[in-house]
Amino acid sequence: MAEALRVGIAGLGTVGASVARVLRDKAAELTRQCGRDVIVTTVSARDPKRDRGVDLSAAKWFDDPIKMAQAADIDVFVELIGGDEGAARASVKAALEAGRHVVTANKALLAKHGVALAEIAEKRGVLLNYEAAVAGGIPVIKTMREAMAGNSVTRVFGILNGTCNYILTRMEAEGISFDECLKDAQRLGYAEADPTFDIEGHDTAHKLSILTSLAFGTRIAANDIYMEGISNISQADIRAAGDLGYRIKLLGVAQRTDSGIEQRVHPTMVPTASVIAQVHGVTNAVAIDTDILGELLLSGPGAGGNATASAVVGDIADIAKSRPGFQHGPVFGLPAKELRPYKKAQMRSHAGGYFIRLTVHDRIGVFAAIAKRMADNDISLESIVQHAVSGETDAQKTVILVTHETTEAAVRKAVDGITKDGHLTDKPQVIRIERAG
Ligand SMILES: NC(=O)c1ccc[n+]([C@@H]2O[C@H](COP(=O)([O-])OP(=O)(O)OC[C@H]3O[C@@H](n4cnc5c(N)ncnc54)[C@H](OP(=O)(O)O)[C@@H]3O)[C@@H](O)[C@H]2O)c1
Repeated sequence: MAEALRVGIAGLGTVGASVARVLRDKAAELTRQCGRDVIVTTVSARDPKRDRGVDLSAAKWFDDPIKMAQAADIDVFVELIGGDEGAARASVKAALEAGRHVVTANKALLAKHGVALAEIAEKRGVLLNYEAAVAGGIPVIKTMREAMAGNSVTRVFGILNGTCNYILTRMEAEGISFDECLKDAQRLGYAEADPTFDIEGHDTAHKLSILTSLAFGTRIAANDIYMEGISNISQADIRAAGDLGYRIKLLGVAQRTDSGIEQRVHPTMVPTASVIAQVHGVTNAVAIDTDILGELLLSGPGAGGNATASAVVGDIADIAKSRPGFQHGPVFGLPAKELRPYKKAQMRSHAGGYFIRLTVHDRIGVFAAIAKRMADNDISLESIVQHAVSGETDAQKTVILVTHETTEAAVRKAVDGITKDGHLTDKPQVIRIERAG
């Protein structure tokens, strides 16, 4: 049998401790599958005394993950510290430079430094595997990088943040407010004490930036993503969406258009009958549209110790199965130097249907004025209805518009015009509608 694969794990929190546990519990299975033993030889975290729920006494302890990354007695450095700078970045870089394979679950690091790290990995002829960084346990990276060769991707989109999907699912099922749902999610451990990163779309954006690179062969451009979170989604939106045959999801969408690539994260209406609309709670999903395959949807657990460990262990096993001299596929599907510069499509040119909810003064002529602003901007309406919303007074009414395909620029101009006309009693709500099968 080949020599054992020696694994060093840096970070022994939710994911790191689960990875150590799975490697111990499934040791015999992994040996059979990989043709060699997979052994945790070294570990690193901040607190050497903390009980990790798994016996790590046989592994050598390092206070400094960078020193561990450079140590001669590991073949694979598994980074599960987190963060886009500091110990995570420095140790991954050190490991790659020292010629160690790296496995990471760190989307923030890859979104910011992924291409530079891929260049080092390619130069050193080692693997940089990151299946767990996008959608946790769902094997989307492997699917896109390996199983879809020859396909041209036209769009990739998904529910990439379990916290947001949990909140939106409960708001719809129980009719409770965003704030109430968020508090509950925090109590149950589904949301962080500071939830901004999740609910304002940053986490989704990091994951989307990686998918965009894989889908379109472009350099990662995480700072060029249009982003709106879910904190302003109200019961009025959710109920109106339901009445119109839609469900609201926070989607990350990357799409090839004539003017470049759109990358956007925002609350989105998807048809209630679509497959992605059936993805509830903390579950994640990724849909990929391609010319050969059509639309593929992968869904499953997007976070949590075990699900994430499953993806990390899969990446480690791939390294265990690889043989010296075997030419590995490039990190982002193409050699890093061949990744094209990302050409951003302006959000103003985004084309699609729109849901617009307006709270207006209840007076004659308002409907006609709204319809005129739409017509002036060449927006064709699928429907315009007065919609009863609880909490409305006699003096105000809710008007819901659904447009046929139009542009973001036209919608913004029309809504600005309606606002200037002085008919609104509240901020207008605009939610994009996404085509989904
Ligand atoms: N949790 C999930 O469901 C999930 C899902 C997908 C991806 N991920 C990603 O996986 C990574 C880890 O997440 P997590 O939830 O497991 O985080 P976590 O529970 O906060 O664990 C972080 C670990 O890193 C250690 N650490 C922090 N700074 C360190 C340093 N300077 N040197 C050495 N060790 C250090 C901590 O040590 P101490 O324990 O001693 O404090 C802790 O063990 C992140 O990149 C995250 O984005 C997580």
